Amino acid sequence: MEILGTKNHKIIHGDALEAMRTKIADNSVDLIFADPPYNIGKNFNGHLDKWAKDEDYLNWCYEWLDLCIKKLKPNGSFYVMTSTQFMPYFDIYLRNKLHILSRLVWSYDSSGVQAKKYYGSMYEPILFCAKDRNNYTFNADDILIEAKTGAKRKLIDYRKTVPTVYNSEKVPGNVWNFARVRYRMDEYENHPTQKPIALLERIIKASSNKGDLVLDPFSGTFTTCFVAKELGRNCIGIDLQEDYIKIGLRRLQLSNEHKGEKLQKEIRSFETEKLATTLNYKLFEEPDGKRIHGKY
Ligand SMILES: C[S@@+](CC[C@H](N)C(=O)[O-])C[C@H]1O[C@@H](n2cnc3c(N)ncnc32)[C@H](O)[C@@H]1O
Repeated sequence: MEILGTKNHKIIHGDALEAMRTKIADNSVDLIFADPPYNIGKNFNGHLDKWAKDEDYLNWCYEWLDLCIKKLKPNGSFYVMTSTQFMPYFDIYLRNKLHILSRLVWSYDSSGVQAKKYYGSMYEPILFCAKDRNNYTFNADDILIEAKTGAKRKLIDYRKTVPTVYNSEKVPGNVWNFARVRYRMDEYENHPTQKPIALLERIIKASSNKGDLVLDPFSGTFTTCFVAKELGRNCIGIDLQEDYIKIGLRRLQLSNEHKGEKLQKEIRSFETEKLATTLNYKLFEEPDGKRIHGKY
């Protein structure tokens, strides 16, 4: 296991369970966002996200769920994701140990999902839990969204003693609409299940304060740590895969290189074309289908 980054923004290359057991103090974390492998066969850089039996996956999850609870401060908050088919097990397991305050649905449009004989999956569930239902951070004013009734339709509530215009802002409900991260978006990184910055912004703003410690045991592209740092929070991010550690180091601007390798964002196909145009080069299609650069 290797600990990289700085005192306030740590990146741990290693197993989340081992790192939490040995490198993170109990009752020390203000907010945990955990987005584990979902056991649905995604390919994480050659590592298949699939356990031999569902029970094996769940038993592994119960182990790190317990560790997350142990690491949380008494007033800490915990957001956890998994696939729709496993979330009911998480829910039943956690409701005996924490207070489940919201069952969130991250909903998105996905033209890629075009099921013909059933209803395509267009959402992912998130549980929002606290250790103490009477003492946890919730910065409602920092995450307000437009309340259409008040802001757009300017309706007046005549049921009140003094008729009042409806509020123009409100705390979001439990269905959240955020676009998935697409190849052409600026924030895109090469990872199969990258979460959007906007999703993490809402969670971190609501459930932590400046200077608080945010932990993400399954960091992937380090979206959580990236947003935490941008918002003035401290963070610890863990991932097993070195390629993702490199994304984290670069995204959080913690290092320009890793083991002698310069850390640069991968150039996407459409960027090569843009770059070629800027440099006065053109992409030519060869008869064998290969694309090459040539001078205009
Ligand atoms: C669903 S992805 C997380 C995506 C992340 N939320 C993002 O925004 O990019 C799960 C990640 O967990 C990592 N992982 C799987 N098993 C792990 C383990 N035992 N310890 C640490 N990381 C692990 C995978 O490499 C993968 O990057």
